[in-house]
Amino acid sequence: MTKILLLHGPNLNLLGVREPSVYGHMTLEQMDALIAKHAESIGVEVTAIQSNFEGDLINAIHTAVEKVNAIVINPGAFTHYSYAIRDAIAAVKMPTVEVHLSNVHCREEFRRNSVIAPVCAGQICGFGVYSYILGIEAAVHLVRK
Ligand code: DQA
Repeated sequence: MTKILLLHGPNLNLLGVREPSVYGHMTLEQMDALIAKHAESIGVEVTAIQSNFEGDLINAIHTAVEKVNAIVINPGAFTHYSYAIRDAIAAVKMPTVEVHLSNVHCREEFRRNSVIAPVCAGQICGFGVYSYILGIEAAVHLVRK
């Protein structure tokens, strides 16, 4: 069975109440359940972790090597400035897909730049929870191709 580590970065624990006009009304728990259900239907096991701490996300990326086949990550605001997360992804050399709920390219200027994207296979953004579903599909494609 294909195994995927799903990482949610800072403030994503507040989904449902956080800027619903941008991020929607679904809670993180509801999103994880929907993603897990879809993953199961295509023979994928997803382990989801949310953290507001950069180091937790880095540790999870390091240990992913022994546990999973690919990573799907929404780094939240770390997307725009965390060279440490970027280096962790580059270090583990594991297929990684960056996802965002919102379309980061049509919001504030600072959101257009991702320091993570260059070390990922690709970036998917703007489709709400479906960005994650597409991210899982992309990761599976990378693992099984
Ligand atoms: C986000 C976009 C980021 O710019 C923002 O800081 C987030 C959420 C998204 O999923 O759209 O926390 O990653």
